[in-house]
Amino acid sequence: MTEIRGRTAFITGGASGIGLAIAETLLAEGARVVLADIDGPRAEAQALRLGAGAFGLTLDVTDRAAFAAAKTLAEARCGPATIVVNNAGIGYDGTDLADMDPLSFDRVLRINLTGVFNGISAFAADLRARGEGHIVNTASLAGVVAMSHTGAYTASKFAVLGMTEVLHKELKPHGVGVSALLPGPFATRLDETTRAVSGPRKPISGSDPSDWRDPALVGPIVAKAIRDNALYIHTHPRYRAPVRARSERILAAFEALA
Ligand SMILES: NC(=O)c1ccc[n+]([C@@H]2O[C@H](COP(=O)([O-])OP(=O)(O)OC[C@H]3O[C@@H](n4cnc5c(N)ncnc54)[C@H](O)[C@@H]3O)[C@@H](O)[C@H]2O)c1
Repeated sequence: MTEIRGRTAFITGGASGIGLAIAETLLAEGARVVLADIDGPRAEAQALRLGAGAFGLTLDVTDRAAFAAAKTLAEARCGPATIVVNNAGIGYDGTDLADMDPLSFDRVLRINLTGVFNGISAFAADLRARGEGHIVNTASLAGVVAMSHTGAYTASKFAVLGMTEVLHKELKPHGVGVSALLPGPFATRLDETTRAVSGPRKPISGSDPSDWRDPALVGPIVAKAIRDNALYIHTHPRYRAPVRARSERILAAFEALA
């Protein structure tokens, strides 16, 4: 179990949406929070709004040298990070894989997958050496269930989930907790931030705006998972059915061997 009170949390993509909601809860529970975001002015403005205990800085998670510098700066200001939330990401681009611009595929993987690895690379060895702490990696429901027109995004999020499961096995013996956040749809700025880097995109067919929850709900869910040292963090009970259906389809395929 990782105590939240008195600890420092380093949160990528912390200027908006899910990352900001996690920061607000952890701050309310007595942590210091670092909002690290490619949109530095927004991270600084949100930190100012949150007040004492919050610090905003500019970080592009794809830039490894910048990640190391951001860690040094944040820890000089706020003390060693005990909680790390690798959350920065962009959304799906709404294209079939057969038609996808390879540069778009590369960009999504670079931010959503390599960006999470860069956070692990920057912090995990420190936490292992100290024998404490917790890492949360934001995957998605799209890291468990495949939806058409989301190929690069789904590839990145399945990979984040797999990498997080490996990290959990590797760090558990050292007393470091690891969680995969598997959000369903939340009403955040994801569409806007994705369009800013990827251009216009089509909506996913069948996506229903009434499913989009308020991101404020995710903060307490993540804080509880950190305290409980939970590997998987779900946010939308109604998506149990597609997750179960996929798991059962995979298991059923073993029958072909009989
Ligand atoms: N909103 C949803 O429905 C939903 C569902 C499942 C998973 N997610 C995941 O949640 C995470 C947060 O998304 P959100 O919905 O809060 O969106 P958001 O756009 O509101 O927040 C994402 C933040 O990440 C930042 N960011 C983007 N690229 C970055 C980079 N290279 N380096 C640093 N920061 C960067 C953006 O500036 C933004 O502030 C993402 O990984 C997303 O894939 C979101």
